[in-house]
Amino acid sequence: MKNEYLTLFSYNSELVDNPKTEFNINQNVLLEALSKIESLNENSEIKYEIHKLIEIIKNPLKDNIGLLKNFSNGDVFHINKNLLLDDLVRIANSHTIERAKYYIIRLKKSLTEIKTNKINDLNLNRWKEYDDILTDSLWIIDKRDKSGTHNAGYWGNFIPQIPNQLLRRYTKKGEYVLDTFLGSGTTLIECRRLGRHGVGVELLPSVAELANKNISLEENKFNVKTEVIIGDSTQLDFQYELKKRNIKSVQFLIMHPPYWDIIKFSKDRRDLSNSQSLEEFLNLFGKVVDNTYEILDKDRYFALVIGDKYSKGEWIPLAFYAMEEVLNRGYLLKSIIFKIILFPPYPSTSITVASMS
Ligand SMILES: C[S@@+](CC[C@H](N)C(=O)[O-])C[C@H]1O[C@@H](n2cnc3c(N)ncnc32)[C@H](O)[C@@H]1O
Repeated sequence: MKNEYLTLFSYNSELVDNPKTEFNINQNVLLEALSKIESLNENSEIKYEIHKLIEIIKNPLKDNIGLLKNFSNGDVFHINKNLLLDDLVRIANSHTIERAKYYIIRLKKSLTEIKTNKINDLNLNRWKEYDDILTDSLWIIDKRDKSGTHNAGYWGNFIPQIPNQLLRRYTKKGEYVLDTFLGSGTTLIECRRLGRHGVGVELLPSVAELANKNISLEENKFNVKTEVIIGDSTQLDFQYELKKRNIKSVQFLIMHPPYWDIIKFSKDRRDLSNSQSLEEFLNLFGKVVDNTYEILDKDRYFALVIGDKYSKGEWIPLAFYAMEEVLNRGYLLKSIIFKIILFPPYPSTSITVASMS
């Protein structure tokens, strides 16, 4: 009789079609149920009991164990419904009792234990739930995030998804981020949203003022510090500036310099977009890399965001040249990412991630 469940658990396309369904479960009830199932001695019994759990999740009216209700005891757990179903199906589909128990233990761990690493807050025990974190080397982004105070008004600003992805991947809450070419403040707006402290340097006072305005309009729900410095990053004494603000070092560096002279940001000679030659542009950019070298913690990451240039019938791979400037100073290359935005279509941007070795 119980053997019929062997055939019931083929992968259900309904789970794939709607992958984002979040819901609340009673964590204790689920853990107790899983522990009971783990103690069973027959694989067919395990399949039978797991099937009952699946039925409850799919049809809450069948919930006779309080899995989807009775949250008053503080055991409410927010989880992706389809990933949970997926895990349960995997247990039920196990051909051996050992495999089934291995998956049960793994599921219990993902519900109770947080496993993070040194550079971000992502829980590796629930990695499947971060389906919005881009880990490929090609980022295809539908359209610019214009939520909150983000807007495309500053010509040459990057889409917020770039700092958003990088900050979640390479920083933890409460850490310090430095953006040496702040522009309209996109990075620091994301810092506020994600609970990271941020320092930004911008050469042009009117642009820094715009950044300050944009940033202060963003809710500061994590109570982080966001500081805008008006200055020339090729000359600034970063150690001194951080010390003045009681900051010892930063844990992430992001640089989105002008793409040489593609967009002229000002007439100021110190502005990288006014470099007279490629050599001068790279020399100035290199100075910014030098100036910030000492303040980035060891083993932490640096992201360079830049596009290439096409001029007088020749492709100029600015991204590779600028990357060389970074690597020549002892950084270790971790990845090269290309970002494409679909609406409206824009030239691609290259993101180089390097680490302080
Ligand atoms: C590509 S934009 C950065 C845009 C920014 N990521 C945003 O989202 O708004 C480059 C910025 O670097 C600034 N800049 C140019 N030379 C600089 C320098 N020497 N020191 C500091 N900022 C500089 C420009 O004024 C411009 O705002």
